[in-house]
Amino acid sequence: MAKAHHIVFANEKGGTGKSTTAVHVAVALVARGARVACLDLDNRQRTLARYMENRRETMKRRDIILPTPTVETFRDDNLARLDQMVNRLEKDHDFLLFDTPGRDDKFARFVATRSHTLVTPINDSFVDFDLIGQVDAETYKVKRLSFYAELIWDARKARAKADGVSIDWIVLRNRLHNMEARNQRRMLEAVEELSKRAGFRTISGLNERVIYRELFPSGLTLIDKGHLGGLATAHVVARQELRELVGALNLPDFAHRESQDMLLPLSASVQVSA
Ligand SMILES: Nc1ncnc2c1ncn2[C@@H]1O[C@H](COP(=O)(O)OP(=O)(O)O)[C@@H](O)[C@H]1O
Ligand SMILES: [Mg+2]
Repeated sequence: MAKAHHIVFANEKGGTGKSTTAVHVAVALVARGARVACLDLDNRQRTLARYMENRRETMKRRDIILPTPTVETFRDDNLARLDQMVNRLEKDHDFLLFDTPGRDDKFARFVATRSHTLVTPINDSFVDFDLIGQVDAETYKVKRLSFYAELIWDARKARAKADGVSIDWIVLRNRLHNMEARNQRRMLEAVEELSKRAGFRTISGLNERVIYRELFPSGLTLIDKGHLGGLATAHVVARQELRELVGALNLPDFAHRESQDMLLPLSASVQVSA
C-alpha cells in the first residue's frame, strides 16, 4: 500500500457511535500490526483522544503494553493546516482514521470527500436516517436524498473523475437491539432502498451493550483480552461482532504487517447486509 488509506467516521449527528466504533477499529488494526494514526477533529468533545489518553494512563498504571495508535487532535482553524497534518502523518502510517464532530463542519466535510472509506454510523431510528434521506410518513418509502447524501454523491463523482478513486461509503447500522424487530424491518427496507439511490452499502455495527459505555475510563477495548477483569465475561459474542465489522470494512492489506497476535484477520468473514 503506497499511501495511507483514509477511513473517516462521519455523520452530522452526535451519539451514533462514531467515536466508539473508531476507537475499536483503530485498536483492532494496530493489534494486527498496522501503523494507524487517529486524527480527532472533534476538538470540543475529543472523545477519541480522551479515550486514548485513558488507555495510556492504564498502560502506565498497570505497567502493561497495549496496541495503541498514534493520536492527534486537530485544533487549528484552516484547511491548509489540516492538509499539512495529514501529509505529515501519511508518511509513516498505513491507515489514517478520522473521528469527526456530530455537526456540520467544514473539516469533517474536507476529510469525508477525500476519504477512501467513509463510515456513517446510524442508530436504528428514522431520526438518524433523516440525515441521509427522508421517508414518507404513511408508507416509509424513501422520498428524497438529504443534503448530506447529495454532498457525498457529488464528492464521489468528482473523485472518480479526478483520480479514479471511488469512495467506499458504508452506512453502519449501529447499537442494534434484539428487541425491536418491527422497527428493524422497516429501517432495513428503507435503508436498502436508499442505498441503491445514494450509492452506499450497509454493514452491521456493534450491538447495544453496556460494556461499550464502561470501557471509556480505562481506555480499554473489547479486544484487550486478559486485561478486562470482571468485564471480560460473556463478551465472546461482542468480540465476534467487532471482528465481523472490521472484516466488512473491506480494508486493503498493509505493507508493514508484523506477525503479531492475529486477533482480527482482515479477511474475517465478511458480512454485508445489503
Ligand atoms: N454499541 C454501543 N452500545 C452501548 N452504548 C454505546 C454503543 N456505542 C456507543 N455507545 C454510547 O453512546 C454514546 C455516544 O457514543 P459515541 O461513540 O460518543 O458517539 P458519537 O461519537 O457519534 O457522538 C456514548 O455514551 C457511548 O458510550
Ligand atoms: Mg464522537
